[in-house]
Amino acid sequence: MMDSNDTPVDVRLSLRVNGQMRQLDVPPNVVLLDALRDRLGLTGTKKGCDHGQCGACTVLVNGEAINSCLALAVVHDGDDITTVEGLAGEADLSPLQAAFLEHDAYQCGYCTPGQLMSATELLSNRKVGTTDAEVAEAMSGNICRCGAYKNILSAIQETRQQHAGAAID
Ligand code: FES
Ligand code: FES
Repeated sequence: MMDSNDTPVDVRLSLRVNGQMRQLDVPPNVVLLDALRDRLGLTGTKKGCDHGQCGACTVLVNGEAINSCLALAVVHDGDDITTVEGLAGEADLSPLQAAFLEHDAYQCGYCTPGQLMSATELLSNRKVGTTDAEVAEAMSGNICRCGAYKNILSAIQETRQQHAGAAID
């Protein structure tokens, strides 16, 4: 919608973010990544390529991992969003986060939030195979320029083995 000067008018939307209802007013062309970072202060989700190619901006929307740099915020009115800030409990890291620490699954850490979100979805998605090759393929949308892939894979597989059948987020 435009005002009389042809300027886009903000749209009010409600998001459930990390379990809390949040309301915000955003221009219709704002992407979810910027809404989370700039409007809600959730800067854990990173902007890498801003073109849907690196996975740094991955968040869960209704349990599904998406690139938030490609998603208009207004399309997600009413949706349930989980960002990296929502993975840990009050006192503890999630098992996957703890495994990332244990396996040294990051170097600069810039891609880590996106890796964690994709891996969280992967571990709850029974359609994804469990071999190293299948997990690596499923994680291939998340680029790590430092090359921590081997350790990321180890962290994911250990989390799967230790928490088989249990909720891991
Ligand atoms: S910042 Fe979204 S895919 Fe790279
Ligand atoms: S840890 Fe450096 S880009 Fe992933």
